[in-house]
Amino acid sequence: MKQFHPADKIQDLQYFGEFGGVNPSISDSSTYTFLSAKTMFDTFEGNADGCYLYSRHSSPMNLYLSKALAAMEGTESANVVASGMGAITSVLMQLCESGDEILSGRTIYGGTYAFMKNMLPKWGIKTKFIDSTKLDVVEAAITPNTKVLYCETVSNPLLEISDIESLARLAKKHKLTFVVDNTFSPLSVAPAQLGADVVIHSLTKFINGSSDAIGGVVCASQAFINTLKDVNNGAMMLLGPTMDSLRAASILKNLRTLHIRMKQHSDNALYLAEKFEKDGLTVVYPGLKSHSNHDLYSKMINQEYGFGGVMTLDVGSLKKANELMELMQNRNLGYLAVSLGFYKTLFSAPGSSTSSEIPIEEQIEMGLSDGLIRFSIGLDNNIERTYQMMKSCMNELTIF
Ligand SMILES: Cc1ncc(COP(=O)(O)O)c(C=O)c1O
Repeated sequence: MKQFHPADKIQDLQYFGEFGGVNPSISDSSTYTFLSAKTMFDTFEGNADGCYLYSRHSSPMNLYLSKALAAMEGTESANVVASGMGAITSVLMQLCESGDEILSGRTIYGGTYAFMKNMLPKWGIKTKFIDSTKLDVVEAAITPNTKVLYCETVSNPLLEISDIESLARLAKKHKLTFVVDNTFSPLSVAPAQLGADVVIHSLTKFINGSSDAIGGVVCASQAFINTLKDVNNGAMMLLGPTMDSLRAASILKNLRTLHIRMKQHSDNALYLAEKFEKDGLTVVYPGLKSHSNHDLYSKMINQEYGFGGVMTLDVGSLKKANELMELMQNRNLGYLAVSLGFYKTLFSAPGSSTSSEIPIEEQIEMGLSDGLIRFSIGLDNNIERTYQMMKSCMNELTIF
């Protein structure tokens, strides 16, 4: 990908807090005073830059965090919200109306899948789920009603890679808005630099990285962010998925170490993926040559942040997967928990947890077997030691 240095963009942000603090002061107000009634009117109309109205619309700390994330993705603007789902649902509600269709990758986060499949039809919006790694399949599925093309850069949980640059070209050709969920690959991939119109993150995962907060962001053009925040017609303003200012402050502080953490997550995940593959296990990790899209992904990423912190192992059955996860937790190798990006390794069996919204027949069709364990590899300092401990758990359970 063309040279883009997201960590430098974060490094280059400079803050002078209200009292000269090196961190911006946290604004602890839901509402804001106006020195003249006219300015209040202008602010409602969206014509008074720099004035705050009411914190559901925007607040100083949320704008700081939004600005940092826009810099990270290289977009004109961004807006943070209370969860990744708050970002996804707002964007889709904003872009689509009754009669419209969404074309979405089929291996996506279970909550996104459930929203598209079960809720959007209530408003007359249909979703076609396709294999977004196959350009011909995507193009063939576009109809005159298609409005949005949606995918995850690295899909959850199968770690399939979509060719963002080619999909962006396709979206432009057919005048679709291309929305990319980049939650699994912050810093590694910058979808907007590859042509995506809207980039979404669940901040809950790697970006915050301490499993103490839920958050989301939409990075896009200023015009689209303004639409989302419009007081009369904006999904973020009217559905109300507002992030709390105190949370925005803590996430902004964690964002500053993201580059260091991503390198360590990626190095550790690559080490384990290579070792377990050599041991004969079924491992999926984009950094492995055996991954079906390894070459494509190698070209898409900022190499210095590596191939990401998530890998999967298939241990054959849900029973074995559960036994292994319990044993690893007992041996303090990590936690049997959903989510990603923590300093400790997190593991779960997606078929019975984060992807359980997807019906069993569809899970089978997309290759999501019940023995699959998703690992979000932690920041372990001695990954060789971790490998030996994990291996001994597997030996005990005769997984090898
Ligand atoms: C890829 C992806 N997108 C979105 C979400 C939803 O984010 P949140 O839990 O912050 O609402 C998740 C959560 O697991 C996810 O994995």
